[in-house]
Amino acid sequence: MDTDMVEPNIREKVAFIPIDEIDVARPSLFQKDTVGLFFERLRREEPVHYCRESYVGPYWSITKFDDIMAVDTNHKVFSSEAKLGGIAIEDMHSAKSALELEMFIAMDPPKHNQQRKAVTGAVAPSNLLLLEPTIRERACQILDDLPVGEDIDWVDKVAVELTTMTLATLFDFPWEERRKLTRWSDVTTAAPETGIVASYEARRAELIECAMYFKGLWEQRINAEPKNDLISMMAHSPATRDMPFLEFLGNLLLLIVGGNDTTRNSISGGVLALNQNPDAYLKLNNDPGLITSMVPEIIRWQTPLTHMRRTALQDWEIGGKKIRKGDKVVMWYLSGNRDETVIDRADEFIIDRKNPRHHLSFGYGIHRCMGNRLAELQLRIIWEEIHKRFAKIEVTGEPERLFSNLVRGITKLPVRLHAR
Ligand code: HEM
Repeated sequence: MDTDMVEPNIREKVAFIPIDEIDVARPSLFQKDTVGLFFERLRREEPVHYCRESYVGPYWSITKFDDIMAVDTNHKVFSSEAKLGGIAIEDMHSAKSALELEMFIAMDPPKHNQQRKAVTGAVAPSNLLLLEPTIRERACQILDDLPVGEDIDWVDKVAVELTTMTLATLFDFPWEERRKLTRWSDVTTAAPETGIVASYEARRAELIECAMYFKGLWEQRINAEPKNDLISMMAHSPATRDMPFLEFLGNLLLLIVGGNDTTRNSISGGVLALNQNPDAYLKLNNDPGLITSMVPEIIRWQTPLTHMRRTALQDWEIGGKKIRKGDKVVMWYLSGNRDETVIDRADEFIIDRKNPRHHLSFGYGIHRCMGNRLAELQLRIIWEEIHKRFAKIEVTGEPERLFSNLVRGITKLPVRLHAR
């Protein structure tokens, strides 16, 4: 949390609000970056907390590291199923209506396991190694074109561009049209209230266009020699080649959505964290070998997805609280990642941590992020190339944050680049 930005009386307000009235679902708390104060209090006083009334209805908050692990690893009791509400604090009813698309992130076994297994090879470390040189080459192009010494918006000019270019590389997507991928990712998760699409009909029309586009690519790849891009791999792999088209599209979109906002915000979050912690920045400049441990620390620090939600399939007890069948249970990764009882100096950004991968940002259990190695790879390449070119990326103004209780997003980050 950026403490300079916290309103003067907010600490007192948080300390005195009756605990029953705490509602951490309000997106404005994330936009103002004050939600950490509420989590701090919940972890201390009522780590398993019930909110009776909120704009998303009643829900449980799980705020401590070990309790989150207990829920995330118990999929027999805590379901991800879309028809029960899915994986976010807001019910997922609209996700399916998009195109009757199903994604395995919002499925329980056995269907989840079958579908995950079918595409998991696509982001296996051995395949990523093959893609690494292209990702690096394109990252270099983007960084080389940036103006030094001028004010620019890091999010628009760099974070979005780098993330889109990696996705385009992974799918061997026509290069000139790569921003379509960003658009489709935004559209897949957008409700009309967000302003990204005008209506559900408009969203459906765009997703049909997306489906047609990928159908073309699929047909092109299946009739060609197998290559290392994800579409070719899925078109030729015995596990996926006979998949019904809508299932293929759902899984493809999951890979696009999964790798879009999360990576984009880790790229921006890292720049911000280094500026807020000048000692860490100095350490990094003196020893770029620390990039390897800094990358997972950035992912912990940023926690690009604040939570995942489950629905209880039976009555269950956690932390002395009785959760009832049908209850909505929210695992706040953002809070678990600041749990002092498990993570040493959890409130500090430490780029040379001993055990930096011990965080919750990728979840745990059977749904643990499939793209975690890819996300780390992208961030490592980007920071290696940034280090070669720039002595400092200086943040020159206040960051702007996303109005969302799910994606911990930075929408604007004014910076100036200093050449090495
Ligand atoms: C699942 C976070 C990058 C693909 C997840 C989950 C989280 C997450 C929290 C759900 C875990 C759960 O429910 O227990 C992140 C973060 C990323 C990132 C923080 C970047 C820093 C990526 C990338 C891809 C990807 C680059 C692929 C291109 C997926 C997929 C799933 C998933 C396919 C569903 C797995 C399943 O349901 O079995 N991710 N992710 N993610 N992620 Fe990521």
